[in-house]
Amino acid sequence: MSTEHFRADERAQSVMNKTAGSVSRYDRARRTLAGGVSSGLRRAARPYPLYFDHGVGSRICDVDGNHYLDYALAWGPLILGHAHPAVVEAMERQVRRGLTFGAQHELEYEVAEALASVIPCADAVCFANSGTEIVQVALRLARAATQRPKYLKFEGHYHGWDDTVLVSYRPTLDQIHLASGRPVPVGLGQLPPESMLVVEWNDFDGVEAAFRAHGDEIASVMCEPMLCNSGCLAPAEGFLELLREITLRHGALLIFDEVITGFRLDLKGAQGYYGVTPDLATYAKAVGAGAPLSVLAGKSEYMNLVADGRVVHAGTLNGNPISLAAAKAALEELTRDAGAVYPELHRRGERLRDGIVEILRSRSYPVVSAGAGPVFHISFMERPARTYREWLEADQKLYSDFALALLDEGVLVLPDGRWYLSTAHTDEDIEATLAAAERAAG
Ligand SMILES: Cc1ncc(COP(=O)(O)O)c(C=O)c1O
Repeated sequence: MSTEHFRADERAQSVMNKTAGSVSRYDRARRTLAGGVSSGLRRAARPYPLYFDHGVGSRICDVDGNHYLDYALAWGPLILGHAHPAVVEAMERQVRRGLTFGAQHELEYEVAEALASVIPCADAVCFANSGTEIVQVALRLARAATQRPKYLKFEGHYHGWDDTVLVSYRPTLDQIHLASGRPVPVGLGQLPPESMLVVEWNDFDGVEAAFRAHGDEIASVMCEPMLCNSGCLAPAEGFLELLREITLRHGALLIFDEVITGFRLDLKGAQGYYGVTPDLATYAKAVGAGAPLSVLAGKSEYMNLVADGRVVHAGTLNGNPISLAAAKAALEELTRDAGAVYPELHRRGERLRDGIVEILRSRSYPVVSAGAGPVFHISFMERPARTYREWLEADQKLYSDFALALLDEGVLVLPDGRWYLSTAHTDEDIEATLAAAERAAG
């Protein structure tokens, strides 16, 4: 597609005219901060990464004073929106009592109890600081519990940036065919992907075949139970049930990576939403509501290996009181009245998602949406995708042009089609966003 769609060139110029403060800061940063950003994916922002000054509720403000309705939400953590008063107050209170102890304190078991009371697979939990780290604990635990070396993952799924998981995340069709069944590493310097098997998402036969060939080597199957990182592709009917059944049959563990879906799709995460309980589940993002926190939740028979130290789980800042103060306050908000915020989150998100699709279709764009209200995906393509390979047909450039036009209209979204909603977004915000989308669509 050319840049004529959504008047992309004009939109880029208009954004550049009002974001001079971001340009000068980005130029300065690039002199000493590698690439000018702190996480590689942020470089994809158009026309360039913006610099932000503050955020309140559903809105974020850049250094030039432009306000945006925010649906990027820091790539997902801000389930309660920016600077939620209860979270800020809890963190402030804790900061005055000490930044970190490297030792035990009451918030640890208070948050652990709160988590165990809502997460279906959680007899016990342990803490770390990022999703990438906690996924490694889960995989190690599964290897220890089964005495097997391999794990099975799915194409398009993201489980952090460690060598052991950063494979076949966003491969092109050419790369997939060239690799003929082998995992595709994402960047340079990664160790050879020896310990993993990769299967297509929603490929029932592929999973069966992998277990037929390697059943006695597979320690675990890990997935994003809704494929939020690539198109928000739902599991096909019966697919999570197959994963549950086949792992039980072969003595392997089922791991749900709930870093995105946890405390977002449902109070009980994807486990509650889909009614399938894994052996282990990983959480980050929403569980800390913006503070660095990740969690491994699991059944006692496995978590006992962490409890007695046979599986090493360590970290200087693990369980730090500032993050746990944030999590405690956030969990109180999210669990109030048995998770009454979730139906509202779904209702508002669905109104937004359906409204955007309607606006784009009224301009004759082929567009589909996938996911649920709290996290959904808009893709420019003719038919809904079921697998990552089908989703590759989506026109990413066209979406990126639309995202640029939205930015010019005061709506911040991620560049890849994913939208996050927070409890701070009101019905008025949704209507204002749809009005902005009307103008952006032209
Ligand atoms: C499903 C999933 N797992 C793991 C991670 C890694 O988390 P982190 O960026 O906190 O290391 C991410 C990050 O986006 C994710 O989406």
